[in-house]
Amino acid sequence: MSKMYIRDVVLSNKLLKKVYAKYRNKTTDDLMNNVELDEYLEQAEKVLLENKPDIVVGLVKGSDSYSDIGLVRERDYYPKYERFLRNNNIDYEFYNPLLSNWMEKAKRFDLIIWHTSSDPATQEIAEGKIYILEKMGKICLPNYDEVWSYENKIRANYLYDLYDLPSIPTFISHSKSDTLDYLSDAKFPIISKISTGSASYGVDKIDNLNEAKKLVDQVFSYKGKETYFKYINQKEYVYFQDFIEDATYDLRIMCVGEDLFGYYRYPNKGDFRASGAGNYQKKEIPVEALELAYQVYKAFGSNFLATDFVYSEKTKQFLIIESSVFIGVDSCEQLAINDVAGKYIRKSANEYDFVKGRFWVQELTLKNVIERQF
Ligand SMILES: Nc1ncnc2c1ncn2[C@@H]1O[C@H](COP(=O)(O)OP(=O)(O)O)[C@@H](O)[C@H]1O
Ligand SMILES: [Mg+2]
Repeated sequence: MSKMYIRDVVLSNKLLKKVYAKYRNKTTDDLMNNVELDEYLEQAEKVLLENKPDIVVGLVKGSDSYSDIGLVRERDYYPKYERFLRNNNIDYEFYNPLLSNWMEKAKRFDLIIWHTSSDPATQEIAEGKIYILEKMGKICLPNYDEVWSYENKIRANYLYDLYDLPSIPTFISHSKSDTLDYLSDAKFPIISKISTGSASYGVDKIDNLNEAKKLVDQVFSYKGKETYFKYINQKEYVYFQDFIEDATYDLRIMCVGEDLFGYYRYPNKGDFRASGAGNYQKKEIPVEALELAYQVYKAFGSNFLATDFVYSEKTKQFLIIESSVFIGVDSCEQLAINDVAGKYIRKSANEYDFVKGRFWVQELTLKNVIERQF
């Protein structure tokens, strides 16, 4: 590519972003300038360290950030991390791990913070690089263990099995004959998922054996089955689950240290999928569910973990749907009871206190990382 061409691409990219930004501002209002950002961030309490570590942090903005045109998205993680670093007087620089000189540049940092986006391409890049960064002695958020299971429903399920955690009964196989055996006894409908996906894209109800066999033929073909990612197909794996037909909501519970947050999500009428539907409710959470989420968090050993559950009325049981080290965070109120924002603090097994306050979970996560590692 000639230099001229690169500049043109950059220019048109900026122009496109501006046009897009204008359009987005009109429709969803989720882009902010610096003044709006400050106001937004300052709604939350400051999260302060007792002991300031002597470290240099490399903070990643993300390749899809709007910072080059002076805008920030509501859901961007890096401004929350940055606020924490500033408030705690910790040295930081922005770091781009996507560049060819990523390894050389990483040398100067003690801690690298990277909100890896959820698409399969970024996951692959991040897993490869975080492995090396840790070999270089760097502390990473996410660390290798965290990125290993993030946005990978198959790997997360291995962990649920390993630690005897109550997930929705799931069948995962890389063998066509094994899969056909399973299907011959299956009670339809069943749920089929792709391993990496969000907002319910890639989650389907399979009504009968014929439909399932068609899917299996595609999955175990040379090209695999197309997904909503144009560059990656579902190939050589199936991820099937019992359909929990009496589930009416999802319950998402976040754990960071001994702090817990959470809310309920509901599907749109006529659908069974709550993820991505945008219907939220914030209210009290049963202790049983908090305790279960905390158990999953401890088993995963991550700095932050959000676990989603369905509740089956029939069996009176919470079952794990999935867990994520990153989620969409729109506000510093990730828990509210009777319209009062706050968090649960785990005092001991089955004992939780509600404490009022607004918090950026990203700041609590970073505090957790630093207190654990430095
Ligand atoms: N086995 C299941 N039975 C019933 N509903 C399910 C099942 N699995 C998922 N769902 C519903 O579908 C939604 C999307 O599934 P999920 O695995 O969370 O995918 P995503 O990663 O896209 O959020 C969930 O939020 C839940 O409401
Ligand atoms: Mg989900």
